[in-house]
Amino acid sequence: MSNEALSNLLTENRTFPPSEDFAANANEKGDAYERAHADREAFWAEQAERLHWDTKWSQVLDWSGAPVAKWFVGGKLNVAYNCVDRHVESGHGDQVAIHWIGEPGDTRDLTYAQLKDEVCRAANALISLGVSAGDRVAIQLQMVPEAIVAMLACARIGAPHSVVFGGFSPTALRQRVDDAAAKVVITSDGQYRRGKATPTKANVDEALAGAESVEKVIVVRRTGDPETPMTEGRDVWWHDLVDEQSAEHTPEAFDAEHPLFILYTSGTTGKPKGILHTSGGYLVQVAYTHQVVFDHKPGVDVYWCTADIGWVTGHSYIVYGPLANRVTQVVYEGTPNTPHEGRHWEIIQKYKVSIYYTAPTLIRTFMKWGDDIPARYDLSSLRVLGSVGEPINPEAWIWYREHIGRGEIPVVDTWWQTETGAIMISPLPGVTATKPGSAQKPLPGISAIIVDDTGKEVPRGGGGYLVLDKPWPGMLRGIWGDEQRYRETYWARFADQGYYFAGDGAKYDGDGDIWLLGRVDDVMNVSGHRISTTEVESALVSHATVAEAAVVGATDPTTGQGIVAFVILRGNAADGGEQAVQDLRNHVVKEIGPIAKPRQIMIVPELPKTRSGKIMRRLLRDIAEKRQIGDVTTLADSSVMDLITQGLQSRK
Ligand code: WTA
Repeated sequence: MSNEALSNLLTENRTFPPSEDFAANANEKGDAYERAHADREAFWAEQAERLHWDTKWSQVLDWSGAPVAKWFVGGKLNVAYNCVDRHVESGHGDQVAIHWIGEPGDTRDLTYAQLKDEVCRAANALISLGVSAGDRVAIQLQMVPEAIVAMLACARIGAPHSVVFGGFSPTALRQRVDDAAAKVVITSDGQYRRGKATPTKANVDEALAGAESVEKVIVVRRTGDPETPMTEGRDVWWHDLVDEQSAEHTPEAFDAEHPLFILYTSGTTGKPKGILHTSGGYLVQVAYTHQVVFDHKPGVDVYWCTADIGWVTGHSYIVYGPLANRVTQVVYEGTPNTPHEGRHWEIIQKYKVSIYYTAPTLIRTFMKWGDDIPARYDLSSLRVLGSVGEPINPEAWIWYREHIGRGEIPVVDTWWQTETGAIMISPLPGVTATKPGSAQKPLPGISAIIVDDTGKEVPRGGGGYLVLDKPWPGMLRGIWGDEQRYRETYWARFADQGYYFAGDGAKYDGDGDIWLLGRVDDVMNVSGHRISTTEVESALVSHATVAEAAVVGATDPTTGQGIVAFVILRGNAADGGEQAVQDLRNHVVKEIGPIAKPRQIMIVPELPKTRSGKIMRRLLRDIAEKRQIGDVTTLADSSVMDLITQGLQSRK
């Protein structure tokens, strides 16, 4: 746990209640907590009424097969119909669903009527390739409208999608394609990044060479690269395939528990976990939370979530929740400083964005770029700000409210995970007096507590592990193809109590509000991206020169944590100069992707281990964070730390 977070918690006592006006007009009022508390299932049944069900459920929750829940048992619905067609049928076909902005400045607006046609065409296209309900479709696309259309087309025909973030390497893509045995892969010819068009298709080809499950690859033309390699018989251009399809497609109703998507995330071991989400409960919770946490008013607000669809935030708060709520939203393809550092503020000004949802790492980057940049733009349209992905330090929270929120609008710090599917702990902007740095309370209908080692709830002021003690509609239904791992990872730690172990440390303050303190396991959080230390270690030891590697997440002022690796080279390897370090960094990029590139690699003669052979990362973190080295008494050989530090000194 970070000391900084702890000391903030002890000193932070500012609170910011909502304005009277906001509170009076808010979508959710304070009584929701009591209603939900009185009868949780009745509360969620009430929330489920916001969707269109072809067949109504007969039971709200079946927890008899715990830890695998069934929500809205017997209910049938089509997720894409709920996100698109329904709004056209209720007379909102002309409302803009997506204001898309390409990095180079090209734009495209899609109304709900247009989105419906596109989704139907794409659904028909997938069917024409032989994709049917239950088949998996992998999608590796940057933030283009086709990415959202492809996800909805999969949902429409009941084919679970597995979206793979664009920053993952061919090796990582292949691992995910194989694990889910994807039948079709959807990708693009290339992407714009920092003002430059970069080809990507050759990488995808490299990833898919010999991939047995893959029958077809659909390629979206984005950069128009004339050199794009296309494999005869396997590859087809999106525009050739999709444009000629009929815009008529009758959505089929699927069971509430039909798989909607698989999304891979890092765990404590090297192999990523395919988190499985299903349809009914997930859609209910993402729609409810999007409506109340952001106070979203359809047809009035302009919403912008800056996440990438490669992460769960993009799934739940760009695609499913917002579209189920008939959002008008901005989708921006590029980086926040292309072509200049005011790009986000310029977009907010132009489209009159009223709800903005981003990550602390970006907020800290904006702070670094300077207050004068947002000050040049008219941000008066904003009325709610959100944060997600990692603990937000009070300083960044205050800056966000002052410089982006005019010092007067609510900031909601939302805690949740890929596994939870939807927001779990967050203020309600019209109810809660917010506190900088705290996610505060579980939402209505959600229960989360902080427990000690033995699973007993800690008192106010106490700290321990965050657990979810009651099932929730959007919860994961398992790890794809590995039920055992599902049980072990999340349910074994507090098996006696039947609690879900989130992997986060947390503390209650004197008011009983929750403060998240970071991961307690070997998962790092770098710019809001989850990367496991073991994953990076496995990548490093797969290099011919490496004998052993230990990786830690060191506190970083901008990215939250930075990856620092300690590497022992093999006896016959060269001495580990600059070039060796560079080779190793590139190797990690090749194995996992640029997001896992170590900030620093230190070549060392030994690693600190306990007598049972466990690496003491705590001591390595002390070195990485340039602190006095802590207690070494449990080391098998206490002189190891001297050896390591002397070695590092002599290399300087
Ligand atoms: C961290 C992202 C503190 C946490 C939605 C969690 C946070 C992990 C917050 C999940 C927050 C996310 N405050 N920590 N508001 N939001 N986290 O799966 O450690 O990419 O376990 O889901 O991010 O990351 P994931």
